Amino acid sequence: MNILAIESSCDETAAAVVRDGREVLSNVIASQVKEHIIYGGVVPEIASRMHAQAISGVTAKALEDAGMTLDDIDCIGVTYAPGLIGALLVGVNFAKGLAYASGKPLVPVHHLRSHVAANYISSSLEPPFLCLIVSGGHTHIAAVEDYTHFRVIGRTRDDAAGECMDKSARSMGLDYPGGVNLDRVSKDGNSDAYVFPRPRVDGSRYDFSFSGLKTAVLNTVNNAKQKGEEIVIPDLGASCIKTVVNCLTDNTISAAEEFGFKKIALAGGVSANSVLRREMAAICAEKGFELYMPDLSFCGDNAAMVGAQAYYEYLAGNTATPELNAYATKEI
Ligand code: KG4
Ligand code: ZN
Repeated sequence: MNILAIESSCDETAAAVVRDGREVLSNVIASQVKEHIIYGGVVPEIASRMHAQAISGVTAKALEDAGMTLDDIDCIGVTYAPGLIGALLVGVNFAKGLAYASGKPLVPVHHLRSHVAANYISSSLEPPFLCLIVSGGHTHIAAVEDYTHFRVIGRTRDDAAGECMDKSARSMGLDYPGGVNLDRVSKDGNSDAYVFPRPRVDGSRYDFSFSGLKTAVLNTVNNAKQKGEEIVIPDLGASCIKTVVNCLTDNTISAAEEFGFKKIALAGGVSANSVLRREMAAICAEKGFELYMPDLSFCGDNAAMVGAQAYYEYLAGNTATPELNAYATKEI
């Protein structure tokens, strides 16, 4: 089954053709990073306008790269939630138009489910497994019971891990996208140089809290400025990343042990973080878990992962009606 997939939930306009949920025939991404960089983050209205401008060309290129026309496509998949509402609506309406004009079925895809499905492209992973989903807006530990059944075991109470790293990077004067730049400049930093307290979250053992760390990093920078002291950015960055990664790995491993999962997967933009990948690999090897991580090219937002998940949603009968809408928030 050939699926044409479309993604426009944040600042990448993307289209891809994916066969049977696992084989990527084309994968086109138009990034808007350059447009948002001067603002230090994504400006929603600019994002929507850029999607509207790029989406036809990106989709045509995805079909061309796959050596196909719309006639060769069996089904259209589109990200419909969660994300920036104006941005999502561009992709949803474009996909509805294509589906209506061609008479092909349309499959709505949840953005976090598609991040999980990035693992199906890179490996032979099948549910059940435990997944740590870490993106700019979400941090979940989810039991993936089946391709379309998810149970959230832990989540952040405030900031997402990606948001914490983005804002901490901004405090240190690094450009957007902060998490990526923080990872890069912190490679040779001393992660023990700054000690940040680990947040205690009352209630669920598997929930997270990252807003305190974000503030602690900002306070460290401001205090140093006031006293005229020098901040060693690689050291501060490495210490911040270490604190985030320790929270993520500890909770994920404890949840896998308690709920009896043998397979652990990472998903979302932050799964590209070099320290998270290295630490997870080391702990899983030591404790005997099978670890799955998307290839780096499928960690960030892309449409290939949407095509992968759309296949399983289609098999489960989850097709859209012509009234399909977009939603800024939606449970996985
Ligand atoms: O999944 P994603 O591309 O978009 C959302 O759905 O939010 O995730 C974006 C997030 C941003 O916070 C970005 O800074 C972070 O992923 N990110 C990283 C790295 N690459 C992307 N954070 C830390 N280290 C990285 N290497
Ligand atoms: Zn994402």
